[in-house]
Formats: sequence, C-alpha cells, structure tokens
Amino acid sequence: MSGKVILGAQWGDEGKGKFIDIFSSQADMVVRSQGGNNAGHTVIVGENVYKLHLIPSGILYSGTVNIIGAGVVCDPKVVLAEMDGLVAKGISLDNLYIDARAHVIMPWHIELDGLSEEARGKGDIGTTKKGIGPCYMDKSERSGIRMHDFVNPRKFEAIVREKGALKNEIITKLYGKAPLDIDAIVEEYRVYAERLSKFVRDTTPMIYDALKANKNVLFEGAQGTLLDLDMGTYPYVTSSHPVAGGVCIGSGVGPTAINEVVGICKGYTTRVGKGPFPTELDDEIGEYIRQKGAEFGTTTGRPRRTGWFDAVIARYTVRANGLTSIVINKIDPLMGLPKIKLCVGYEMDGKVTRDFPADLDDLARCTPVYEEFDGFDEDLSDIREYDKLPENLKKYLARIEEVCDCPVSIVGVGPDRDQIIYR
Ligand code: GDP
Ligand code: IMO
Ligand code: MG
Repeated sequence: MSGKVILGAQWGDEGKGKFIDIFSSQADMVVRSQGGNNAGHTVIVGENVYKLHLIPSGILYSGTVNIIGAGVVCDPKVVLAEMDGLVAKGISLDNLYIDARAHVIMPWHIELDGLSEEARGKGDIGTTKKGIGPCYMDKSERSGIRMHDFVNPRKFEAIVREKGALKNEIITKLYGKAPLDIDAIVEEYRVYAERLSKFVRDTTPMIYDALKANKNVLFEGAQGTLLDLDMGTYPYVTSSHPVAGGVCIGSGVGPTAINEVVGICKGYTTRVGKGPFPTELDDEIGEYIRQKGAEFGTTTGRPRRTGWFDAVIARYTVRANGLTSIVINKIDPLMGLPKIKLCVGYEMDGKVTRDFPADLDDLARCTPVYEEFDGFDEDLSDIREYDKLPENLKKYLARIEEVCDCPVSIVGVGPDRDQIIYR
C-alpha cells in the first residue's frame, strides 16, 4: 500500500499547505483526517493565493479525489463558502467527498467555544473560536450530529431542535447568556444540509480501494504534533490528533496503509495561542523573524509567537509520528541574522535533558541549551540546489539532522510551490 502522510511537526503553520500542494500534484487521492476550519493552509499557485481550511489541497488538481474524512469536524457554512470560492475561481468540485461519519459544527459549538474561553479568563487556551473543542466534546460524549443525519431530510429538523434546545439550557443557565434562535438555525442550516447532501458518503471503501490498487494516497495533516490532544502541550492543544496515528483513526485505515510520514518544520519555531514555548524570542530578533516570515495567522490573523528552532521538540515529533523524513521549510526568513541558535537540550533544575517533558510545569522551568551558528546574508529565493546553499546554513541543517536523528529531505526557501530544494 502506498499511503503518504504529511503533517505538522511543530505547533502548526509550518507551511504544510505548500507541501501538500506539491505532493497533491502526484497524488490520486488526498484525504484530510482530523481538525476542522481551525486549520488555515496557504497554497500559492502563480498569481492565485488559496487559503484552504477544510477542503484538501488536491482540489486544485483535476482528477485527484479529495476526501474530508470521518475524523474531521465540518462547519457546513464554512465548507460551502470554501466550495463557492473555489468554483468562482473555476475549480471543479466533482471529485470532492465528505465522510458520512464526520461531525457537524453547529452555531452552539462556536458560541460555547467563545463562552468557555471567556470563562477561563486569564487561563484561556487561545482557541480559534471556530467551535472545534465543543464539537469534539459532543462527539466523545456521543451526542454530536454526524453528516449522515445532518443531510437526512427525515432526521434533520428533529435532531437540530433536540440538540439545540439542550445547548440553549447550557448557554442560558450556566453562562447566563441569551439563547440561540433555533427556528432560524433550522431554516438556515436546512439549506446547507440540502446543498451538502450530494457530497456525503461512506468514503472508507474509496480509500481502501485506492490503497489496494497501489494508487498514491496522500493524507493531509492539519495543526501540528505539539497541538495533539495527547502528545501536545496539554491543555494548550487542539481537540483532535494531528499525529500520524490520527490518520488511521480519522480516515478509517490501518497503520499498514502508511509507508511514508513527512514532518514539516520551519527553520525556526512559531506558535499561536497560549502555552509554554521554551525558545520564544520576545525581542527584536523574534520581531525580525515575524516580519520576514510574515508570521500572522491564516485563520485568525493573530501575530504568531516566534522563537529559535527547538530540536528537543523535533526529536520528540520524529518519535511520536515515526517520521521517515523532515522538511525544513521557511529557512529564508533567517537571512540577515548574524547568529542563528539551535536548541539541542533543556536545562531543568541543573540537569540537561534531551527529552520533551510531559508536565507543563516542568516545561515552564526548562531553559534552552543552545548551539550557535554563524548566519547567512545570501538571498535564497532562487536557489534550487542543495549544494548552492550558503555553507553556514548547510552546517546548521546538518546539525539539525544529526540532533533529530532523521534525514532532512527538502528545504523551503520561499512561499511559491517551486521554492523548494530536494536533498
Ligand atoms: P500551514 O498551516 O502549515 O499550511 O501553514 P500556513 O499556510 O498557515 O503558514 C505558512 C505561511 O508561510 C504561508 O503564508 C505560506 O505562504 C508561507 N510559506 C510557506 N513556505 C514558505 C517558505 O519556504 N518561505 C517563506 N518565506 N514563506 C513560506
Ligand atoms: P494549521 O493546520 C496553528 C491552535 C490555536 C490554539 C489551540 C486550540 O493551520 O497548522 P482550537 O481552535 O483548535 O481549539 O485551538 O490550537 N491551533 C492552531 N495553531 N495552526 C493551526 O492549524 C491551528 N489549529 C489550532 O491557536 O492555540
Ligand atoms: Mg496554518
């Protein structure tokens, strides 16, 4: 079988969109397994910039089958708006499918995401407020709405009224806020359900058949390993499983379907939202990287926190995902810095560790152990051969590879799909 996984190896926004797009051009099928429209993947094709949140990037290639898998939480309004935007750019939706098991994000999920964040006060998570957590909560509690029910005209209204009434109890009684207008939701969402109906089906046989026939199946990751519900920096995580294992659960395939797992990193580290970040640069270097790398959220527009590359994290994600290779993307924003630092360990209570701690209180006590490299001033944007990269940069990349114990397969030198260097 020939399944390839592309996933985020840091805290998301590593530039997965660009690589998913590059690999989609060779794929027969692209499958999204988890997350929802908290994801924002930028794909630049010539003059066109696509910001995809739910629809797999393979949609840009005619003939590629695109699947929104069972593990995704799907906001009907958002997915329809995304579909309309693509159609307006002349892109066909003929090969797009949504798994019948996918859960539906309803207005109360979005409302409750905002209310629970507000209630957490200073201890908020910094979610995207897209209703992701509350929708996955309902799924785990076994009270969510799945696509097959949502698009079933015989079930739609009763189910929306029943769930909506219950959520209004929570909104009014627990949070003391005004109830949502369920009549209006029924009318609005009925139209969405009718429009989505033709895309919904059991996609698992399609994926299985494609794998059996040795077609190229690409599993498109969203978020990043450190945002994983179990493996990430809990509770500052998302509510799904961005690690490679999440692909199996969220697409309905077994681990034997996957033979390649590519982890995307940036040449530095970023995160949006709250939570500890050992190599964070709260200074002019951090600001330099933010500006050079245009580190502002695709989904929320928030400035991303920036810091040095953390090889403790990278080693951890190599393990947690069984990475077969790493991509070091966005190396170009480091141009012009006299020195580049690489975190190779953490010092905690006078001891050095190379393992990423499970307990956030421990992580907060960690200070990075850095190795320092001379920077580079060369413009990388037109370089396409590894050997032509500045010597100082090659030393930095070689050390990353060594510390992470995983080969670097590709280096990214700019946002365009051709601005990559294969090793
Ligand atoms: P994703 O969520 O992992 O798909 O990443 P985002 O799309 O949220 O953020 C990555 C941003 O970096 C986008 O604006 C990309 O266009 C841009 N980008 C991707 N690769 C590179 C690169 O190698 N260099 C630079 N400078 N920008 C890049
Ligand atoms: P892509 O796919 C970066 C972060 C949020 C917040 C935490 C929980 O573009 O890399 P949620 O709304 O999921 O409950 O928020 O997770 N987060 C992301 N950060 N990139 C993403 O996706 C993210 N999706 C969620 O900022 O800290
Ligand atoms: Mg993003």
